[in-house]
Amino acid sequence: MKKCILTLAATILVLTAFSCGKDDVVPSKYQGLTGHGSSGSGSGSNTGNNTGDNSGSTDTGDTTPVIDYTKYALGELAAQQGIKLGAAFTYWEYRNNPQVAEILTREFKAVTFGNEMKHDAIVQANGSMNFTTADQMAQWAKNAGTELFGHVLGWHSQQQTAYLNTLTSDPAAIDAAFKSYVFGMVEHFDVYAWDVVNETFSDGTNGAFRTQQTTQNGFVWGTYYPSTKDWVDAAFAYATEACAKYGKSPVLYINDYNLETDPGKRQALCNYAKNNPQVTGVASQMHLDIRTPDLKGKIEASLRDLVATGKMVRIAELDLKNNSDIDQADMFKYIFQKYLEIVPEAQRGGITFWGINDKDSWLGEDSHALLWKGGNYVQKESYRVLWQYLCELNGLNPYKE
Ligand code: XIL
Repeated sequence: MKKCILTLAATILVLTAFSCGKDDVVPSKYQGLTGHGSSGSGSGSNTGNNTGDNSGSTDTGDTTPVIDYTKYALGELAAQQGIKLGAAFTYWEYRNNPQVAEILTREFKAVTFGNEMKHDAIVQANGSMNFTTADQMAQWAKNAGTELFGHVLGWHSQQQTAYLNTLTSDPAAIDAAFKSYVFGMVEHFDVYAWDVVNETFSDGTNGAFRTQQTTQNGFVWGTYYPSTKDWVDAAFAYATEACAKYGKSPVLYINDYNLETDPGKRQALCNYAKNNPQVTGVASQMHLDIRTPDLKGKIEASLRDLVATGKMVRIAELDLKNNSDIDQADMFKYIFQKYLEIVPEAQRGGITFWGINDKDSWLGEDSHALLWKGGNYVQKESYRVLWQYLCELNGLNPYKE
């Protein structure tokens, strides 16, 4: 019996030591560099405002150095590798959680509005454009020194159908409404890049363009053009003309989802981009699910195809449904690794997460999709693993000094 208890105690000790110290062991090149060793594992929870104590324990005299996640911001670390790190946020999140503005300001170099630049947020039922909410957010971004991404000019969802449905008997009126929307948006917003068209291919059709028949509850602009391809051509032509007219030079993206799991769609998107010089960027949304078989292989294959277009390559809406913080961290690290390995620096359009906190994710809190969680905006394992990975790539000392 006594032997049994001793064995159990020893096992617990070994397991505890392993789980606490695993991520935070001092690499030999930093040993002796950290001077004031402090105690703890470094993997204790850290709040969003980065004022949290990372040590996770009181001083026990242990001189093991502890990782100091407050030393560098994630966006700074990514920028040193040529990755513009972004996050999407909504007006609602911004108004209701002061942590959102703090985290965006500190951790990210670029922001995308989750909804507020969409057609139904800007265009009113009478066809006029109202920029009030988007302007408030854009002003905030400017003050915060954060770049703005434009999402989105041409989409089939979240359209002002009250207005558009009054025009559908006249294709020329639809085209005029689309053109004036594109020009109005390009003139109004100063962005580093636009999603010119979003989700323009239908699913599981080997890359056929989306039509009203393949779309539920959406307003498919292409229905009123000879074909959806003609509408996509028009979108890039209008965006290009508008940029020239207003003296702007954002990257012009074609963006879609499921490019990793639907190679036919991916091929169609890449072919379209290769054949149209007005397309200057290709983007994969990357709304991922950890349960997808061979997800890593699929991500790698997709990145290789996107890079082969020669255009800027952007991961536009990254999130990952999962049930384990460790699995999520591993997958996000893999994505950053592959992005750096496969996408040459001159083609790096950046990586944007589709939100900040699991609790506000469009996928629901139970998807555990993002880098922070809970009402206190606690940094997850994914944050810490990405942070350590980028720190190491940049040759920076991660330890408290
Ligand atoms: C989502 C927003 O996050 C939600 O708040 C909204 O209810 C629906 O749209 N692909 C896109 C994004 O291009 O615009 C979508 O955003 C997510 C899927």
